[in-house]
Amino acid sequence: VIAALQPKWLANRRVLITAGPTFEPIDPVRGITNRSSGKMGYAIARAAREAGASVTLISGPTALDTPYGVKRIDVMTAIQMRDAVMSHISKQDVFISVAAVADWRIANKSEQKIKKNGNGHSPTLEFAENPDILASIAALPDPPYCVGFAAESEKLKQHAEEKRKKKNIPLLVGNIGHETFGKDENTLILFDETGSLELPHGSKQILARQLIEQISKRL
Ligand code: CTP
Ligand code: CA
Repeated sequence: VIAALQPKWLANRRVLITAGPTFEPIDPVRGITNRSSGKMGYAIARAAREAGASVTLISGPTALDTPYGVKRIDVMTAIQMRDAVMSHISKQDVFISVAAVADWRIANKSEQKIKKNGNGHSPTLEFAENPDILASIAALPDPPYCVGFAAESEKLKQHAEEKRKKKNIPLLVGNIGHETFGKDENTLILFDETGSLELPHGSKQILARQLIEQISKRL
């Protein structure tokens, strides 16, 4: 289906999207990260733009090209992602939080490369919890329409419904981690206050368009 012929579900709307993983340094050459190719978030950014929105994409490290017409801001860490989101959130109509944000950063990161001593002695990492970007946006006085994503490994329905309530957001999109990581297809389940709706197995680009239509109907 030709991109230019997509229905303009989001004409005159401003949409902010996070995508990809975050990367939390251990030292200048090492770090911890989450599994996320960025494909779903980038597909949603592309679909939102096709639907007529003005789209800002705040992205962790990915190997993907910027979707046509989308403004992209690159970040590495969760703190950088939080700062970029905060500085772009005003006047947004929709915030779609697709990024796989690392829940912890390294509290005792080293400014220099940690050397391997070869004596069987390994360094001990200390962790600090990262800010919850989505929950902080949802808690703003006049928040945009907030959409969360959850990749679970089991009990999707239960975890997704609990997460939607805990973060106080109107819409949460659930999927099963091992069925989506790095893949071009997926199945999505939408959870809102009325219940759940499954978007059946299909390409991430088709699912992204269906999700954009669903979001536009809820604005
Ligand atoms: N999220 C976020 N900032 C974080 C963690 C998560 O904005 N520090 C967002 C994600 O982008 C996603 C949603 O919150 O839209 C759910 O993320 P998830 O990792 O599934 O939820 P958590 O509350 O971190 O719970 P879990 O213990 O299952 O990881
Ligand atoms: Ca998490």
